[in-house]
Amino acid sequence: MTAALAVRGATKRFGAVLALDGVDLEVQHGEVVAVLGDNGAGKSTLIKCISGVHRLDSGTIEIDGQPANITSPAAAQAHGIETVYQDLALFDNLGPSANFFAGREQSGPAWLPRPLRVMRRRSMADATVDVLERLQVSLPDRAAAVGLMSGGQRQVIAVARAAAFASKVVILDEPTAALGLRESRRVLDLILRLRAEGHAVIVISHAMDHVTEVADRAIVMRRGRAVGEEVPSPESQQRIVALIVGTAAEPADSTNTNRTTSPGPPV
Ligand SMILES: Nc1ncnc2c1ncn2[C@@H]1O[C@H](COP(=O)(O)OP(=O)(O)OP(=O)(O)O)[C@@H](O)[C@H]1O
Ligand SMILES: [Mg+2]
Repeated sequence: MTAALAVRGATKRFGAVLALDGVDLEVQHGEVVAVLGDNGAGKSTLIKCISGVHRLDSGTIEIDGQPANITSPAAAQAHGIETVYQDLALFDNLGPSANFFAGREQSGPAWLPRPLRVMRRRSMADATVDVLERLQVSLPDRAAAVGLMSGGQRQVIAVARAAAFASKVVILDEPTAALGLRESRRVLDLILRLRAEGHAVIVISHAMDHVTEVADRAIVMRRGRAVGEEVPSPESQQRIVALIVGTAAEPADSTNTNRTTSPGPPV
């Protein structure tokens, strides 16, 4: 089976910091892979290299078995990769449709007669409604400015926007951080729907119960390296935590480490 996304030997240095040290990662179509690790482990750097924000110092990225030269966010998007960053980057004063198409407006060239440009705007609104319906996302008001929406609704719109344009890979950095139970539920449901539609999904999360619920596989990063992999379940949770804090090869109550607390959300 050809992986939707294959990263091999990813290495990235920031000055003296080796943020990525030969990381391998494969994600299949219809698979959700969680990337776990303590603060500073290299998770965001890894996804930023895949989504074109940073360039790898060495290593390769393949999409559907073909080498992908990802030199910019636009190049990543052209390869069917969409990313939702933790800060979401939505335009608060615009509604969902304008947010969906921000930077890819279909208003057409300026020489188009105005009525035709209005029609393009309508088709963007229709397309947005189509996506929201396809993903079974219900919003109280689909035209309201997203700045007036709750954190969960904004998160759902950001994930739905990524889903709308990603043909292959959807990357989510902390998609349920700061969300309540019900709002988290909606985002988790959306992730499961993306998987059902055959997307390859990468989720960075510190919320172990959410990882257990949606991820088929979890890879753990520590100090820039991929140090282990587990199928998330209530049984494997302790092993995952041990990988995260670096006590995996030692007894759980080992005291010869300066990192004995289990990771919570970043503070
Ligand atoms: N743009 C940058 N310039 C310099 N150093 C960076 C940069 N981005 C990340 N780093 C460093 O690389 C390392 C990995 O950072 P990264 O943001 O990938 O961690 P993370 O696993 O996402 O952590 P967190 O859970 O806190 O988000 C850290 O030591 C960080 O200080
Ligand atoms: Mg991060």
